[in-house]
Amino acid sequence: MRESGKIAALALKKALTAVRVGVSELEIDKIVEREIYRLGGDLSYKSVPGYKYATCITVNEQVVHGIPTERKLEQGDLVSIDLAVEFKGWHTDCAWTVLVRKQGTGSREQENKEKFLQVGEQAMWEAIVQAVEGNKVGDISNAIQTKIEGVGYSVVRSLVGHGIGKSLHEEPEVPGYGKKGTGLALKEGMSLAIEVIYAQGTSEVSLGEDGWTFFSVDRSWAGLFEMTVVVGKKQAEVLTDWRKV
Ligand code: MF3
Ligand code: CO
Repeated sequence: MRESGKIAALALKKALTAVRVGVSELEIDKIVEREIYRLGGDLSYKSVPGYKYATCITVNEQVVHGIPTERKLEQGDLVSIDLAVEFKGWHTDCAWTVLVRKQGTGSREQENKEKFLQVGEQAMWEAIVQAVEGNKVGDISNAIQTKIEGVGYSVVRSLVGHGIGKSLHEEPEVPGYGKKGTGLALKEGMSLAIEVIYAQGTSEVSLGEDGWTFFSVDRSWAGLFEMTVVVGKKQAEVLTDWRKV
């Protein structure tokens, strides 16, 4: 899983570097696909029946499971890239959201979007801190909820993080909301995809006409931060940290 995670991190880093005005979602998907294959990995999303892309890409009010399209990125877009890798039968899953920045001095809107992203990322790191033996799944969930709701955003409740390993999606579910000290007890070595799936406005999501893409029903901004981690005795090990590869 460490090797799988390294490939995922490198592919995510490459994708994030490619984000700029005028690049299409499909071009980013191809960049990720090529990078995963170049590094000897396979596309984990192939294991999802009917899905044939390397990534899910969601923009602005789109929340998750966006099919990459010909749409070209524009200034001010909030772009989430979600990808998963299979390597020697082991899966890792990660996602990140970035802003397609405007040149020059930031507008109020740009500042709001940047704050929105900082909070989501911070919620994810605070959740990862909880992924230690002796804690429960609810401690992870509660950390996400506390951070996101603390600044007035909302956690999308119908979509959750998950166990991961021999399959992309395994037990347990890891919601972004819950009570401390509840749920499954965490043990050293458990591997989890911790996901912060949140929106600026309502937490209600709806499925788009393509049958895949979820969007926020009030069309408010959505963000997505996800890392695959291994529960540790004192500290979680993050397998997909693109900033460290
Ligand atoms: N990466 C998503 C998750 O975090 C799964 C995407 S499945 C796909 O669970 F079919 F949309 F690719
Ligand atoms: Co996931």
